[in-house]
Amino acid sequence: MEFIAIVLFFLVLLIALSIVWSTLKTGISPMMSSSKARQAMIAQISMNEKDVLIDLGSGWGTLVIAVAKNYPNKHVIGYELSWFPWLVSMLFKYRLGLDNLTLYRKDFKNADLSSAATLLCYLFPEGMQALEDKLKHDVVNNKITIVSNTFALPSYKPTNVIKLKDFYQTPIYVYHWQSK
Ligand SMILES: C[S@@+](CC[C@H](N)C(=O)[O-])C[C@H]1O[C@@H](n2cnc3c(N)ncnc32)[C@H](O)[C@@H]1O
Repeated sequence: MEFIAIVLFFLVLLIALSIVWSTLKTGISPMMSSSKARQAMIAQISMNEKDVLIDLGSGWGTLVIAVAKNYPNKHVIGYELSWFPWLVSMLFKYRLGLDNLTLYRKDFKNADLSSAATLLCYLFPEGMQALEDKLKHDVVNNKITIVSNTFALPSYKPTNVIKLKDFYQTPIYVYHWQSK
């Protein structure tokens, strides 16, 4: 009994340390978008079911799972660096039988975003700068809708800003990005 308690203690400690480590490394914790933010973000998704949608930093998977359930014919992709939230999201994906959801434990900065019609994110200022740089260099001949919780792209004007009816009046930024 004592042995199991010690193993459990170290397991929980390992998980907590790994989350702290990845938060320091990436610059943001795996905090979920609130349910109001999720609803507002999902409302901006195009109705074309066959499009590819990518969540840049899918965390515990709450947002991608909601999208994959609502749009069973859409290919939904999540990139996440923190291994424990990623593992939990994988368990939910298989438990819910979401064949249209693909979850990578990978840095979105090294991902191919060229197939995406929609990008969702809840990052932080440096993450948004990295996304803007990536979009400028990587994506060719593509139109993308970008929906960002809280943080704006540094040098692009959003098409729309939705203010949530919450304590912080959290902004949801919507962009219709067209590569030149
Ligand atoms: C605030 S959470 C958002 C989770 C989810 N998208 C949502 O809205 O509920 C941000 C996540 O992005 C992940 N992240 C940050 N930078 C990343 C990167 N370069 N590549 C992959 N994931 C990243 C973090 O590990 C964290 O889990």
